[in-house]
Amino acid sequence: MTATLRDRLREQLADLKMPGALEALDEILRRADSGQLPAGEAIGEVLGSHIALRNQRRLQTAMRCARLPAVKRLSDFDFSFQPSVPREQLENLHTLGFIERRENVVFLGPPGVGKTHLAISLAITAAERGRRVYYATLADLIMWLEEAQQAGQLPRRLRTLVSPSLMVIDEIGYLPISRTGAQLFYQLMSRRYEHASTVLTSNKGFEAWGEIFGDDVMAGALIDRLLHHCHIVNIRGNSYRVRHHRELAPRPTEPPAPTPTPRRGVRRQEA
Ligand SMILES: Nc1ncnc2c1ncn2[C@@H]1O[C@H](COP(=O)(O)OP(=O)(O)OP(=O)(O)O)[C@@H](O)[C@H]1O
Ligand SMILES: [Mg+2]
Repeated sequence: MTATLRDRLREQLADLKMPGALEALDEILRRADSGQLPAGEAIGEVLGSHIALRNQRRLQTAMRCARLPAVKRLSDFDFSFQPSVPREQLENLHTLGFIERRENVVFLGPPGVGKTHLAISLAITAAERGRRVYYATLADLIMWLEEAQQAGQLPRRLRTLVSPSLMVIDEIGYLPISRTGAQLFYQLMSRRYEHASTVLTSNKGFEAWGEIFGDDVMAGALIDRLLHHCHIVNIRGNSYRVRHHRELAPRPTEPPAPTPTPRRGVRRQEA
C-alpha cells in the first residue's frame, strides 16, 4: 500500500473519530500487505478495533456514572456450579431484547448464588451497547429518594431515576424499609412501568414482599406491575462464596414460593 493511501486512511479514521481503529491500522495493513490477512478480514479487524475501544470507554463511563459495584460478565459465570440457572434463558436475556420491549427481570434466590453477578452482567452488556444504566441497592435507592423528598427535590430525582433504559435494584429483602421509603419506591416503580426495564434481585419470594415493604396492598400492586412483562430466574443452590467450605455452608433453601397469579404476559422461568 502506498504511503499516500495509508495517510488518507489515517485522516479518514481521525475524521470519523475512530481512535481504536487508527491505533490498530498500521499493524493490520502490515499483515494485509504481507498476504497474511485477506481484505475482508482486514476491514473486519479495523472495525473490530474501533468497537473494542468504544465498548471499553462506554464501560468506563458506566462504571463511573452508573455506580456499578464490580465488573461481572456472563462469560465468568460458571453454569456447572449453578445448574438451576438456565443458560439459554440467560444468553437470550443478554441479547437485550427485553430492554427494547421494556420488560423486567427478577433474580430470586438465597445468598451467594449469583443474583448480583447476573444482574450486573446484564447492565454491563447494556452499557457496552450504549444504553444508559444505573445500579443501586434498594436501601441506597430509598435513602436517595428520602433525601430528595426532604430537600423538596423528589420530582427531579424521580425523573433522573426513570430515565435510564436499564436500572438494577439489588438486595430487596435484606434491610428493613420504612413506610415512607416503601411508598417512594412504589412511586418510582410505577413510573418505570412500561417505560423502561428494571432488573431486581431478592433473597425472598414474592409472598414475603408484603412484609418487606410493610404493606401487603402496596406490595401486591408493585408485584402486579413488575410481573406484567417479566422474566423470572429462580435460582436454588449453594453459595459460590463458600464453595470451598461446603460443610459450613447452609443447606440450599427451597426456592421462593410460587408467585401470585400474574396479570398477563409474564414469562416465568422456574429452575
Ligand atoms: N456460578 C458462578 N460462577 C462464577 N462466579 C460466581 C457464580 N455465582 C456467584 N459467583 C460469584 O460469587 C460472588 C457472590 O455472588 P453474588 O454477589 O452474585 O451473589 P448474590 O446471589 O447476589 O448473593 P447475595 O444475596 O448475598 O447478595 C460474586 O463474586 C460472584 O461473581
Ligand atoms: Mg447480591
